[in-house]
Amino acid sequence: MHMHKWGSSGSHKTKPQLLSLNCIATHAIGVETFANQSGMTSREYEKSRFAVPHHILRSEVIYGEGFQSPGGIGAFQQIVLPQLSPSAGERVLEIGSGLGGAAFHLVAQYEVEVVGVDTAETMISIASDRRPRLDPSGRSRFVHGDVFLDALKPASFDAIFCQDTLMYEADKPTVLARCMELLKPGGRLVINDFCEGQSTLEFVKYAEVSGIYPVTIPVYARMATSAGFVDVAARDISTETVEHLRRDLHTYLERAEEDAKIDSADKEHVVDRWRRKIGLLEAGALAQGLIRASKSDKI
Ligand SMILES: C[S@@+](CC[C@H](N)C(=O)[O-])C[C@H]1O[C@@H](n2cnc3c(N)ncnc32)[C@H](O)[C@@H]1O
Repeated sequence: MHMHKWGSSGSHKTKPQLLSLNCIATHAIGVETFANQSGMTSREYEKSRFAVPHHILRSEVIYGEGFQSPGGIGAFQQIVLPQLSPSAGERVLEIGSGLGGAAFHLVAQYEVEVVGVDTAETMISIASDRRPRLDPSGRSRFVHGDVFLDALKPASFDAIFCQDTLMYEADKPTVLARCMELLKPGGRLVINDFCEGQSTLEFVKYAEVSGIYPVTIPVYARMATSAGFVDVAARDISTETVEHLRRDLHTYLERAEEDAKIDSADKEHVVDRWRRKIGLLEAGALAQGLIRASKSDKI
């Protein structure tokens, strides 16, 4: 098996656990409080999160324009881009393209063609509405659906990437096999995803309520290798993600002070989510993984 680890962080695992787990418990209670105010259970709210424009746009305020993942454009440039190394004229597939922030950046700065697929129709519709303004070149396209769409042709992409999306997929091996099929020989795969850390009761509850199916970073890497990928490299980037989440929260709180459109229920909810994610990452219960792999050019 070709599995490399590059760099090493994981220092979050050495932080005191008891304090962090207390934080998680407090924040879990916060989520229930919000859920009651909105008249939905936590699970119902999580399911609606990518379908309701208000929820999506509320998250965009904290993530930054075009994004629904920690650190927004800065994190994309710092973490995913160096692994993706796009070149002009390439075809790139983004799984879970959300509001299209990464796709718009790629077409504008690297002159690649990007197809974004997303299972949330609302995300696709918002991204498509922004296309005339953010992609005058017309090199981006957003399609409602998942990686198994028939419109996606085998061996037609130079690179595939996804950010904070595959955690929602229960059957990761099948998705990875499909990525293998869609890539041209020598194509690149980059996955930035929330992963399982040291499993705790709080983590299991968090995963259940959030509707996510996280696996550990080594398991992710093994799944990529089993799907036939070569040069598989996996790295724990939880420390960087905690920094991004802290920065997001700081910027958001400053903005909430000045922006009358951010009401107190929204603020309470967003702040609670962020503190809970930071708590889980610091406790080592949740981890952020960066997995990079290639399709052999001999296929
Ligand atoms: C946390 S958001 C991240 C969006 C975007 N990648 C970003 O970084 O801003 C996850 C997105 O993945 C989409 N999604 C979830 N499961 C999916 C799947 N199996 N295939 C395609 N999209 C999916 C959701 O609808 C949502 O838009």
